[in-house]
Amino acid sequence: MRSLIDIFELSTDEVDRLIAKAEDIMSHPTAYVDKCRGKKLATLFYEPSTRTRLSFEAAMYELGGNVLGFSEAQSSSAAKGESVSDTARTVSCYADIIAMRHPKEGAPLVASVNASVPVINAGDGGHNHPTQTLTDLLTIKREKGRLSDLTVGVCGDLKFGRTVHSLISALSRYEGIRFVLISPSELRIPGYVRDGVLENKKVPYEETTDLDGSIGKLDVLYMTRVQRERFFNEEDYLRLRDSYILTPAKMESAKEDMIVMHPLPRVNEISHEIDSDKRACYFRQVMYGKFIRMALILMLLEIE
Ligand code: NCD
Repeated sequence: MRSLIDIFELSTDEVDRLIAKAEDIMSHPTAYVDKCRGKKLATLFYEPSTRTRLSFEAAMYELGGNVLGFSEAQSSSAAKGESVSDTARTVSCYADIIAMRHPKEGAPLVASVNASVPVINAGDGGHNHPTQTLTDLLTIKREKGRLSDLTVGVCGDLKFGRTVHSLISALSRYEGIRFVLISPSELRIPGYVRDGVLENKKVPYEETTDLDGSIGKLDVLYMTRVQRERFFNEEDYLRLRDSYILTPAKMESAKEDMIVMHPLPRVNEISHEIDSDKRACYFRQVMYGKFIRMALILMLLEIE
């Protein structure tokens, strides 16, 4: 039995197979409508979510399975002081697979050690978000046709943005990837990603505060919001939240075939005028998220 806590637990080959499976589901959805008949997914969300929780639930329904769970800690026994490990043991009695989001880094790992069914990390604090990364990889593959030989700009809150940490880890394993890390100096990428991944794997990267000066060389621009809930004080958040706003004027310097991605939710960092630009693919990215989660559920439940 396997869980998915960190994207590194999947080999590159497995990631490629998940992408291929998601593409097959997109082309032949009717072949999958009964694959999870009789199976149940539990979504245990201790933190707000729209896309991740609903795409997991939609994924399980489209596979013919059922869903149970909670969408806020206050409505679960966590409010009475129950530990994540006890909750994981309990839910294992009711469900065949668990997707968990938690504000504390490592909570889904603790759940996976105590559960007797597979646990998927649906975002743990400012740490990791492996299924967003699978979504992002499928998006890049579909929109750019490849996962290698790309200059990828990642812009915004690189310190607390968990999707960024998992994305850099995953893309660093492909050939010819270089990163341009664009953030205010206070929100630079954490050392465990810079040293542990980029330096360690000798992946070319630069750190800059300058979006205007960098946008012209990018194949992919991955925007992120400033993670208000992870700041220690509101003043710092207010000072940093509008550091980068992508506008049509800025897009004029970008390549014709650059794609703009965003894990969403967007707050203020992409002007709504960009939505009609053909390079904006963040709403298609949302759609890919459901298909890759279908592929992942099948893999972890060992259903062909
Ligand atoms: C992201 C998250 O929860 O980390 N959202 C998502 O899952 N698509 C990004 C964010 O909240 O900024």
